[in-house]
Amino acid sequence: MGAKGFFISKAVGVVGIVLGAGAVATIIALSVVYSQEKAKTDAPVAPTDGTGTTLPTVPTPAPSNEPWDKYRLPESLVPETYTVTLHPRLIPDPITKLYIFTGTSHVVFKCVKETQLILIHSNKLNYTKALNGFLATLTTEGGGAPAPAIKSSGLVEKTQYLVLQLSDSLVKDQKYKLSTTFTGELADDLGGFYRSEYLENGVKKIVATTQMQPTDARKAFPCFDEPAMKAIFHITLVHAHGTRALSNGMETGELIRTTDQTIDGMSVQVTTFEPTKKMSTYLLAFIVSDFGFIQTTLEGVLIRIFARKAAIDANQGEYALSVTGPILKFFENYYNATYPLPKSDQIALPDFNAGAMENWGLITYRETALLYDAKYSSNSNKERIASIISHELAHMAFVKKSYHYMALCVGFASYVEYLGADHAEPSWGVKDLTVLSDIHRVFAVDALASSHPLSSKAEDIQRPEQISELFDAISYSKVQSTLTKINNKVSLCILQTYLNKFAYGNTVYTDLWDHLQMAVDESGKPLPGRVHDIMNTWVLQMGFPVITIDTATGLVTQKHFLLDPESNVEASPYNYEWIVPITWMKTNINQPSIWLTKKSDTRVEMKVISGQWVLANLDTVGYYRVNYDMANWESLLNALTSNHQDIPKINRAQLIDDAFNLARAKEISTILALRTTQYLTKETEYMPWESALDNLDFFYLMFDRSEVLGPMQAYLLKQVTPLFDHFRILTVDWTIIPPGHMDQYNQVNAIGKACSTGLPQCQTLVQGWFTSWMDNPAVNPIEPNLRSTVYCSAIAAGGAKEWDFAWDQFLKASIATEAEKLRAALACTKEPWLLNRYLEYTLNPSLIRKQDATSTIVYIASNVVGQPLAWDFIRDRWSYIFNQYGGGSFSFSNLINGVTERFSSKFELQQLEQFKKDNEAVGFGSGTLAVEQAIERTKANMMWISENKQQVLKWFVDNTLP
Ligand SMILES: *[C@@H]1O[C@H](CO)[C@@H](O)[C@H](O)[C@H]1NC(C)=O
Ligand SMILES: *[C@@H]1O[C@H](CO)[C@@H](O)[C@H](O)[C@H]1NC(C)=O
Repeated sequence: MGAKGFFISKAVGVVGIVLGAGAVATIIALSVVYSQEKAKTDAPVAPTDGTGTTLPTVPTPAPSNEPWDKYRLPESLVPETYTVTLHPRLIPDPITKLYIFTGTSHVVFKCVKETQLILIHSNKLNYTKALNGFLATLTTEGGGAPAPAIKSSGLVEKTQYLVLQLSDSLVKDQKYKLSTTFTGELADDLGGFYRSEYLENGVKKIVATTQMQPTDARKAFPCFDEPAMKAIFHITLVHAHGTRALSNGMETGELIRTTDQTIDGMSVQVTTFEPTKKMSTYLLAFIVSDFGFIQTTLEGVLIRIFARKAAIDANQGEYALSVTGPILKFFENYYNATYPLPKSDQIALPDFNAGAMENWGLITYRETALLYDAKYSSNSNKERIASIISHELAHMAFVKKSYHYMALCVGFASYVEYLGADHAEPSWGVKDLTVLSDIHRVFAVDALASSHPLSSKAEDIQRPEQISELFDAISYSKVQSTLTKINNKVSLCILQTYLNKFAYGNTVYTDLWDHLQMAVDESGKPLPGRVHDIMNTWVLQMGFPVITIDTATGLVTQKHFLLDPESNVEASPYNYEWIVPITWMKTNINQPSIWLTKKSDTRVEMKVISGQWVLANLDTVGYYRVNYDMANWESLLNALTSNHQDIPKINRAQLIDDAFNLARAKEISTILALRTTQYLTKETEYMPWESALDNLDFFYLMFDRSEVLGPMQAYLLKQVTPLFDHFRILTVDWTIIPPGHMDQYNQVNAIGKACSTGLPQCQTLVQGWFTSWMDNPAVNPIEPNLRSTVYCSAIAAGGAKEWDFAWDQFLKASIATEAEKLRAALACTKEPWLLNRYLEYTLNPSLIRKQDATSTIVYIASNVVGQPLAWDFIRDRWSYIFNQYGGGSFSFSNLINGVTERFSSKFELQQLEQFKKDNEAVGFGSGTLAVEQAIERTKANMMWISENKQQVLKWFVDNTLP
């Protein structure tokens, strides 16, 4: 699934956080699922009948630990091929009103350990009894003695198994075929085989589609649903005439060969697909729709983009089609491997919970992640599309290889995604932007005591899902920044050799270090230790260091950086010492880059004369923060005020981010951090501004209900006014679009901040645009990049008339990115009754899609007026929300985080604790940890406010005096 950083793009920051968090989770979803499953209590469960009636054929287990009580499959059977036929009905059953699918499945598996029990995953499927009276039939495959008779069959709901007990043992090394016929519901629950709905010319259309990851393939057909249980899949889809069926493999025949049949009086087509390569169940996909598509070919590979017909007709797939070829080509060169499939299908779905999913040969996307229309989409929408496509294709390039290879590369894909996007759009500076979108975010998580080392022991990292966890967002940034230092070119080349050589073997990541070591030895440039030892300090302990440089003594030291210095951390085998590459930007240090190996053993000769400064971590390539002695901080602040261009823009952004985070960790004063924003009156670059605004968001959360807000707004108004004027001139009074990608982002910052701090010219400008649109809805005069911020400002300043107009436009929007901007902006109104009405809409899927419910509530909560309303709303409705939306479609942790992030008073803490108590019986599902964290965060916020409020208030007052 789509990874992390790229979801955070300018104008849709909050969308980004919501989706981003969800997507990060999916990278490690498999591991998380397993660890959650392991954590569940192993209470015994009684099998139930798959046909819907009680069938006590499997003896009810005593308080026991039967194989079907366990969440992991026993290792006795290994699947080889599945032959699955599915028939989704896109019209509801006239009697039950349910949308359903019917299916048959034949799985051939090999017995690798004698057993009298067959366990295969099955969830929410109803089985048709076979002639033998059981839920399945079993035959021998490929000769050999007849299969043992089935003694009993049943379903275990809790652990999601179809259980068959046999009269005799299966024979080791013998193959068997298990056949089933079943029915499932095509629900609108965004998981397994599910349905998505949309309107086209006033007609309701249904799409049958899938999301199998992490463990929902078992909701579509009975299968050994664990990633290591790879098999070849032969898929057939039965579907109504005039619809199109897609799956992982190419439709067989020239383009499509179908057989006509009649089922239930309806004439249907049968589409079969080329068998897949041997792969995991979570990469499967089946889709039936009447979508349109566009296509091209690249050296024999068919590239197709599918979407709603109206979207295809409006050319919204063209951008995706135009970047896919170059990105595929780039990866072919990068990995020195040809794309392993004959086709690359990408499809945009109206209902899709994540950002994207890398199903083998058929990648599924949210519409906003694939469809682009220059008339509606901003540059950040465009960047998101290029990045996500690049990320998903990076996965594709690996899929032909074994799971080890692929898993290793799941995290790796997060990195190469930037390379692919950079290749497709070289002018954007995508790699620089990762400092903001990736490094800063990863820092935030990895600076908590609750972060994780990548592993405690190298031997522990053997299983694929652990390797993929190893290469999650945190680890990749760490490993990459250190590898870069070791040698970018060498490491890349070695990585390729390594991946090719070990593609099919059973290897662990440590082999990679050995190969890097060989390259280092050959290069003749020694390192301060073996690659293995250097990398272990990053991989086998959590967190990262803050490097402190004392320019008076030349002493350079490191210590574990923790946002909360009081927190207790576990002991580390490396004693929280890292082997750190340090690069300088210097005035008169004689030393080139150095390696720091111990906590305090490095002294660098530096004679810094007064007025000169030293800066470390040039271009933020290293994974650490930097602190300085006060004299050097003063010199750096002077340099920013007098000649900020002397410091590269990435480092200006980094200085601000480091300062604010060092202040949170009580390494420096909050006032020193605030002082890094004083020079912004001269700054026009995006990266430093974005870094400052991101960090000041916390100040808004803490103070926007207090007397600090007034002076803080006055200060920021003063800081942002020159930026607003800069863009007014640059865009010739807002008539042209700034040429640079990052300038376009910063224009959004300029307008957003100038309007929200009350600059009159800004408010007049924005309201003028919006009024002109309301007067003539057919012509939207607002430039797409500016729409999110302009809509929000205008709706905040307006009342019901503006809100209702925007709502109407939301319902009519012909492209998802436009709907998305309006949906976020509708939460900006200051009218409590409008916000409450909007909250009600979120639980009505005909108004707000289920996939969007959580993020809409979070948008409302991010508005200072909406926050208490959203809190009341979720408290009031918790059991309803939990029962109705308890499945995959509602992210309870995002919800709890979003609604409670302002909490900073004793009263709010009590409310939160009460909420936890009141709903213990209902539960918090995926939000359980978030509730605990919210309580911790509220306490930390209370502390921070008591320590900082008075001085911050005074500083803002002093710094806005004329
Ligand atoms: C499966 O059986 C249960 C119990 O009879 C029933 O409630 C449910 O609707 C059935 N599902 C389908 C898809 O037919
Ligand atoms: C790319 O692959 C080809 C064929 O497998 C091989 O001969 C060549 O050396 C590889 N190139 C690199 C840079 O590894």
